[in-house]
This record gives sequence, C-alpha cells and structure tokens, in this order.
Amino acid sequence: MTETSLLKQALRSVVSGQVKAAADPYRPGWHLAPPVGLLNDPNGFILHKGRYHVFYQWNPLACAHGAKFWGHWSSADLLSWRNEPLALVPSEAYESHGCYSGSAVTDHGHLTLIYTGNVKYADGSRTAFQCLARENANGEFDKTGPVLDLPEGYTGHVRDPKVWRKGYHWYMVLGAQDLSLQGKVLLFRSADLLNWDFLGEIAGSNLNGLGEFGYMWECPDMFRLADHDVLICCPQGLPAENDRYLNTFQSGYFVGHLDAEKAKFPHGDFTELDLGFEFYAPQTTQTDEGRRLLIGWMGIPDGDEFYQPTVENGWLHTLTCPRELTLEAGKIIQRPARELQQLRGDVQEWQGLADDAPVWDVTKAEVEIETGQAFSADFGGDLLLRWDGECLHLTRKNRRTGLPEERVWRGLLRKLTVLCDSSSLEIFINDGEAVMTSRYFPVLPALLNFTGHHPITLRHWLLADCVLE
Ligand code: FRU
Repeated sequence: MTETSLLKQALRSVVSGQVKAAADPYRPGWHLAPPVGLLNDPNGFILHKGRYHVFYQWNPLACAHGAKFWGHWSSADLLSWRNEPLALVPSEAYESHGCYSGSAVTDHGHLTLIYTGNVKYADGSRTAFQCLARENANGEFDKTGPVLDLPEGYTGHVRDPKVWRKGYHWYMVLGAQDLSLQGKVLLFRSADLLNWDFLGEIAGSNLNGLGEFGYMWECPDMFRLADHDVLICCPQGLPAENDRYLNTFQSGYFVGHLDAEKAKFPHGDFTELDLGFEFYAPQTTQTDEGRRLLIGWMGIPDGDEFYQPTVENGWLHTLTCPRELTLEAGKIIQRPARELQQLRGDVQEWQGLADDAPVWDVTKAEVEIETGQAFSADFGGDLLLRWDGECLHLTRKNRRTGLPEERVWRGLLRKLTVLCDSSSLEIFINDGEAVMTSRYFPVLPALLNFTGHHPITLRHWLLADCVLE
C-alpha cells in the first residue's frame, strides 16, 4: 500500500477514535499509551540532543497485531511528553508486513533508526530486512531501505536490531531463529551503519552451555553496567518451571563479558526481569550522567490481551514507567526513574495493624509498604497482593478463561514500592530486587484495602498526571 493511503487510514482512525479512547477511565494518567489502536514494544529509546525519544510498535488501525507503524513521543524530562509525527509507515515492499522493532542512534548529529522490515508471503513463509531511516530537517524519517538481508543459516525470524557505538565501529545485536529452530542472538559490526559484517552468534539456545532455551529470541539489548556486559533478550518457547517462565513469553538477562571481535559472550544464568503478568520487549538507553534507563511494554502477546476492557474504547496496552538499572551482586536492580518523584504530592504516613489501615485512593498513586509479616492488599477488586511470610503472591482471574492465576516471588520481604496508575501496578520489591508488573482493571476509583493482624508501615503519595503536549 502507498504511504499516502496508509497515512490516510491512520489519520482517519485517530481522528474518529481518539475522543472515545481519551475518555476511557482506564486511560493511564502518567504512562504512555497509544491514542488509538494497539501499542507493543518500545523502540528507538534514546537521549538525542537533550530530549528522550521513545518510539513504539503501533497498529493505529485496530486493537490487533498487524503491519506495525512506528509511533513517536519525546520528552526533556521523562515527565511531560510530546506527541511527535508518525515516524515509520510500512509502505515499502521490504517492510510490507510491518516496520518491526529496532533502535535509534545519533549518527553525524542525525537521529537514525535501525528497524526490521517484515515481509510475509502468501505461502506462509516470511523474510526480514534490517533497514535504516534518518531524520531530516522537518523531523520526518527518510528511509535508506535495507542495509542487511537475511543472513544465511536462519529462518525468516531475524529481527529487532539494537545498535551501539564503540570506538570506531557500530555494533548490532539481532534476534534470530536458526534453521534447527533454536533462538539465537547474532552480532554484527559496521563502520557506517550501511555495510554490516556478521561476527557470530553470541548467545542462544544450545549455546554457551545453556541447553534447549527457546525457539526464537526477540528484542536483544546489549550494554555495559558496572563493568559487566548485560544482554537482555526475550526467549520464546520456554516451558514453565515451578514459579518461573509463567507468561507466554519471557524477558530476562544474562550478565557476562562480551569479546566482540571474537564474537564470544561467556555468561551466567538467565534471570527474568519481571515476575508480573504483563511485561515484555524492554529496551534501554543511557542518560548524560551514565544512568541506564529501561522502558518496557506492559503487555504480552497472548490471547488474554484482547479481553482487556480498553479494547471497547479502541485502544490497547501501555508502556511501563522508565526505570533505572544498577547491577548489584551480579543481579539487575530496577528502581523507578528518579524523575518520577516529581509527580508526587504530599506524603501521608501511617503505622499500625494492617487491618486498621486507612483506605487510600490508589488510582494514580505510589504506595510504600514496610513489613516483614503477613498481610494482604486488595488494589480495587481486580488484583490481590498477599505476603505470607515466605512468598509474595500476585493473583487475579484470567480475563479470557475466568480461571485464577498467580505469580510468585520468594525471598525476605522488607519493603514494597507500588506505582499505581488507573489500570496498572508496578510492584518493586525490596528497592528493586525484583519487580512484578501487571495491568489491572479495578473498580474506579481504585481503593486499597489491607488485611492482616501484624504491624505495617505505609506511605502514600498521589501522583500527578504526565502532560502530553
Ligand atoms: C516483540 C515483537 C518483536 C517484533 C515486534 C512486532 O513483541 O514480536 O520481535 O519486532 O514485536 O510488532
């Protein structure tokens, strides 16, 4: 389809749907959500010329997966966001079934996007091209076209380039599936972003002593953190193991040491980044002061997503809040980006038995819970958080099947920091040792009710909305 006709369809969809979507009571106050249609992965997260840019996988035409566009927001402070013009429209033959996920770099001063052109054929087969687009003086992205064809030895599932600069070279990690249907991460090098040399497979199923570990690895991200190299990736096809790998697809990381020239990445175990119901395809970038920020998709491609009530209002999914990553004792610690503290109103503090706790409005709020002893907290009728002294249980009813489902964290609980928006909870355990991220659809206003016979210390802040310029 031509760019003009796709743009017309997108415009028609936004103009006819945005008022209804904006009036949805489950519309987030301070998270990023699409004006209409379906959002999935964050893309091209970067700090460029003093502004953060977050692009996103977007189907503006329906609450369904399909030929994805790249939507675009930018912000100077991670608090107030500007709606930028549509960045990529899947108009060319090499991206006919979507401008799939990718990253952004600053090249000779220009914001430059590297993304996957996804192509499907009538016989069900597919291919993928890694493509480039550069921002011009009008803030539009001019497409250079494919800079990397499908490498030999892989199926058409090769996608999600994440590119970074080191010394005189650009490096790219790419998610892939090899011909024996094992998920892999490939490493490439380039001097100019246009010509890429394949250096090798640096991680994957049946590699680096890992054993069988998924049929496809999506959305890799490689970066330095505290003198280590961290590879984030999203393996698909891991069978559930007790409390682990319970979502349809996983997001997690390996800590190791990357020898790029030898294409070797000896690494430790895979650790899940999040233990909640909805978290996938995160991407990171670095701030001017060297902080590593992560933003993820608060969603998972599973059947349940289409049963979310926002679909009736023509929009689906949000991004997570931006989080700061540190590496402590070999593990990633995630904390809400410190900028978010500026959304806080006055603090209310309370101490006593959980049963006597005040009922606070948590529709858009932050709650701190300090305790080591059993309690449970109902966040407004759709999601229950329960600490039994050994396990933290997050439970809800699956919207599609109606069956109860549960996610669990085990450890020694000291403190929970829960960031609430009108249809999401991000639960940071012990200052970011683990996180449980979930969408939820409470009775609004969402009232938080504690039960328990033990003392508990609570803090509560109402959070202001993020401004969309
Ligand atoms: C992850 C993903 C990516 C792909 C994109 C398509 O959610 O499947 O691998 O590029 O979404 O929207």
